Amino acid sequence: EKGGWSSFMAKEISEEPDAIANTLLGRVHDGTVSLSELDPLGADTLAGIERIIVIACGTAAYAGMLGAYAIEKWARVPVDVQLSHEFRYREPVIGDRTLVVSISQSGETMDTLMAVKYAREAGARTLSICNTQGATIPRESDAVLYTHAGPEVAVASTKAFVAQVTALYLLGLQLASIRGSLSPELIAEQVAELAAVPAKLSEVLQSGETISQLARWMADTRSVLFLGRHVGYPVALEGALKLKELAYIHAEGFAAGELKHGPIALIEPGQIVFVVVPSPRDPLSLHPKVVSNIQEIRARGARVIAIAEEGDAAVLPYADEVIRIPLAAPLFEPLLSVVPLHIFGMELAAAKGLDVDQPRNLAKSVTVE
Ligand code: F6R
Repeated sequence: EKGGWSSFMAKEISEEPDAIANTLLGRVHDGTVSLSELDPLGADTLAGIERIIVIACGTAAYAGMLGAYAIEKWARVPVDVQLSHEFRYREPVIGDRTLVVSISQSGETMDTLMAVKYAREAGARTLSICNTQGATIPRESDAVLYTHAGPEVAVASTKAFVAQVTALYLLGLQLASIRGSLSPELIAEQVAELAAVPAKLSEVLQSGETISQLARWMADTRSVLFLGRHVGYPVALEGALKLKELAYIHAEGFAAGELKHGPIALIEPGQIVFVVVPSPRDPLSLHPKVVSNIQEIRARGARVIAIAEEGDAAVLPYADEVIRIPLAAPLFEPLLSVVPLHIFGMELAAAKGLDVDQPRNLAKSVTVE
């Protein structure tokens, strides 16, 4: 039940820190990861995996994109993310050294189920990341790693998303440990980062009022753009999807580096653009590049809302609003920066008087192809 919240979605956003903490529970100890759920796949098989293909739809696919950055970096295995409904029609190159990881909150999405069956018949190993105990997709897979977000009722996925990312990061660290691609010290460092996320996320939830104010100001907006780079890119896509499905506003997410290859032509005075800003401490040095993107769009009249790390002063001269997130290592920032966008989508829909739990034309699980 909603338990005093205005909607299931509001309740589920408030549960995002717990969704992460519960997905970690019993799987991390003293700086190590142990996923006994992967046993059916066999450690030798996992050590010999040459390629990972992640299949999912919608928000789950964006979680998959984040997982791909982490798994490639930590386990040094190539990872592709493919939409379930596109996957089998491209005649994918699959063998017994391919691990196909499906992600589905409901575990019933027909497109993803059909993709899993296709992968299994083609000889791949299959792992399901799923939030619903005993659902069809986990039953059709060789192994299952459950996310422990608890039942998600609102049509738009929120807490399941952060739990999916958490499960993928655990998978990346477990693979890195099996394959020896990360030292135990580095694994322990990532585990500590992951374990610190729920408390940081609780801080982010405190900024809810600022975001709902922003949303009320923007209730008449017809178009919103979202920019992000590296792990900020899937966050931008997720922010845009939420706005489409909940507030029926045209929204698009772009990789910030693509701006000058086309999308910058969309910028006209008053265009609202959310920018997910990487940390200035980021070893990849993406921060100045994104700040320069902000300058470019601001010079063309965009209204910029930056989601930036606490203390990052470089964005201040160019942003109309700054939403702050606590310090975290780059791969963990998306778990913090995505939540203001979940709140924004919900609040904008509410400001328009829409039903945030049951957007038009959508169903919680899509059981037809
Ligand atoms: C967006 C949303 C959808 C689902 C997608 C996959 O907020 O909820 O995009 O993420 O339909 O659903 P599952 O994870 O159940 O396979």
